[in-house]
Amino acid sequence: MMQAVKISDKVYWVGAIDWNLRDFHGYATRRGTTYNAYLVLGEKPTLVDTVKKEFYDEMMQRIKSVIDPKKIQIIISNHSELDHSGALAQTLEATEPDEVYVSAMGQKNLTAHFHRDLKLKIVKTGDKIDIGGDIISFLEARMLHWPDSMFSYLENEKILFSNDVFGMHLATDKLFDDENDEHVWPTEAEKYYANIVLPYSDIVLRFLEQVKKMGLTPKVIAPDHGFVWRKNPTKIVNLYTQWATQKPTNKAVIVYDTMWGSSEKMARQIADGLSSGGTRVRILSMHHNDRSEVALALLDSAALIVGTPVLNSQIFPAMADVLCYLKGLKKKNLLGAAFGSYGWNGAPIDVLTKTLEEMGVQIVCPAVKSMFVPDEQTSEKCREMGVQISRAIKEKIQ
Ligand code: FEO
Repeated sequence: MMQAVKISDKVYWVGAIDWNLRDFHGYATRRGTTYNAYLVLGEKPTLVDTVKKEFYDEMMQRIKSVIDPKKIQIIISNHSELDHSGALAQTLEATEPDEVYVSAMGQKNLTAHFHRDLKLKIVKTGDKIDIGGDIISFLEARMLHWPDSMFSYLENEKILFSNDVFGMHLATDKLFDDENDEHVWPTEAEKYYANIVLPYSDIVLRFLEQVKKMGLTPKVIAPDHGFVWRKNPTKIVNLYTQWATQKPTNKAVIVYDTMWGSSEKMARQIADGLSSGGTRVRILSMHHNDRSEVALALLDSAALIVGTPVLNSQIFPAMADVLCYLKGLKKKNLLGAAFGSYGWNGAPIDVLTKTLEEMGVQIVCPAVKSMFVPDEQTSEKCREMGVQISRAIKEKIQ
């Protein structure tokens, strides 16, 4: 039987490890993930969140390793996305709890997921429940990252159940921050922020300020993905502040696809220009990289330069994909420009510039277009584009 993992005298992790997840709605999860659920053994045993539907049995085994699931009296659903609520309806049938607590939007969402009366009780920021000698208080975290998102705080033990926030997609059998490899998790935490939390960065900063004003000082932060922060919970809070601020550094990302190698040649010339100006550059071909890797690379960058060949009077499909994805992530403080190659109609390359503008990217220079293979003059124009963007970055970050 799979075992629960003890976090404190009263709190156990009863979640599931998804070692083989490689795609989380479009985000490449190269190291899998966990779905964390927590059991609080107050006089009224309380389950905080559940797991993805397919992992119901794993969660139940872990619960059974500690108590009879029928003894669970309270369930809290901090977040209605199906990786945490997929197993909720089945769990309710098996445990028949007295009360199920959710935010107002949580009630709406869960009803729309399950289309049945789940007898949910709505709580809001500041509400507290007594689970028999222990108090759990609630803090709504609207749009972090869904409208229903909510935190629960076990006051006596100062354990904050933070749903998706402060998590990462990392399958690990080590439950705590101090047990996990420092060479692995920082990139996964950053990638998770860049792909999940980034669009809500202003809300992150306001929310962290609100938490500070409330005097909330958690000893443990227990998110719904990845591991539990027990040694140094402030580490991830400080990283969130840094990432949410989106301060650009002297780095640029070139994202492109290529048909017969011309756009790739242009990308390399632009990179050379950027490097000559002292800007660090990453060149990502969409033929070989996932869109979520681009989002990660962009998080601390000051410029996004995008390139495409023209195919049937359109930009390349992989470029439409990544631009659609990045547009949704709303990265701020970016400079940029476009480039591309064509055979007889260069107009579609302007779609890239227009999309960058729609994303709020400040265009540094007009697009460079090459009819078929770039000649020496066009190559030099590309290099000059890199030099110009590097210069603009330095002016911006001074
Ligand atoms: Fe992990 Fe928003 O679900």
